Amino acid sequence: MFKNKKGLVLSLTVASSILLATGCGSTESSSTDSGKGKDSDLVAVGATIYKFDDNFMSYVRRAMETAADGKVNLMLNDSQNDQAKQVEQVDTLIAKGAKSLAINLVDPKAAQTIIDKAKVKDIPVIFFNKEPDASVLKGYEKAYYVGTTSSESGILQGELIAKAWEANKEKWDKNGDGKLQYVLLKGEPGHPDAEARTKYVVDTVKEKGIEVDELALDTGMWDAMKATEKMDAWIAKYNESIEFVIANNDGMALGAIASLEKAGYFSGDKFMPVVGVDAIPEALEMIEKGKMVGSVLNDAKNQGAATVQLAANAANGKDVLEGTEWKLDDSKAVRVPYIEITKDNIQIGKDAYK
Ligand code: GAL
Ligand code: CA
Repeated sequence: MFKNKKGLVLSLTVASSILLATGCGSTESSSTDSGKGKDSDLVAVGATIYKFDDNFMSYVRRAMETAADGKVNLMLNDSQNDQAKQVEQVDTLIAKGAKSLAINLVDPKAAQTIIDKAKVKDIPVIFFNKEPDASVLKGYEKAYYVGTTSSESGILQGELIAKAWEANKEKWDKNGDGKLQYVLLKGEPGHPDAEARTKYVVDTVKEKGIEVDELALDTGMWDAMKATEKMDAWIAKYNESIEFVIANNDGMALGAIASLEKAGYFSGDKFMPVVGVDAIPEALEMIEKGKMVGSVLNDAKNQGAATVQLAANAANGKDVLEGTEWKLDDSKAVRVPYIEITKDNIQIGKDAYK
């Protein structure tokens, strides 16, 4: 959908503002009417997304809107990365008659605050994407989680790196010391995905018997622009010593690529292996062009759909899994699997974002 050529960061920003255009100027958007009747006739589900201006979450949001269409009145709010604002939105959603809540926390530690509000009115809460502590989820019978097993993405990314390194190390081990010198762009600190990916990717590469040197690790807050800035600084500082760029998500991988391009990479034989997570369409394009080694599919479509399906069932007083094929694990979580994506199986990524 996003046809970027040059000026990637700019086009990403433009693309996400196009996606956001429907919600422009307001912080709430509802699913549009379908043939089946007005939204207001449908059971109300109150939802928040931690910020609309997050590349991956914009795909989750779209999937939620599609799943809600004609089934529930989805009152969807942009929490604008502000936890206090989100708490106010939850108050408003409850006041407006939401029968269940679908919450993408700003701060993963704020789950209890949301539960305290919902519990008073006996309203079920489906958290998604930012996993609350298991103990908090356990504390409220009507609380659930839809997301992934965070560590899995780090393990798959690590395996991908190890395979690619083994196959290319003659070229990629630039200083010939047999070790992999990397820089790592971390997501939001404290975010279960960011913490797990950062730990498991490196652990996995090492387990595969590859020695590593960490030249730099810092947060790019999931954000392309911030990642470009970081990468600019790292290229200036480490230049030729960097042999691999590991990013906790594709947004930051794309930001790093923009920086690397400025520094002359990806033309002639100047190359840098870059990996991300999410397998969003913009990243799939980079994989096809050979500017990204691979990514790990974070299934936005299924996570968005599952969130709305559980929330709709809950709002209707049904078992949350009724009519679905999802399963809950011991921590009342639906976990959608990650899939390693390279050029070889890129169609899986494309299909997931269709
Ligand atoms: C992660 C995703 C990131 C970012 C984050 C927001 O699962 O990989 O790109 O969207 O969620 O919480
Ligand atoms: Ca080396």
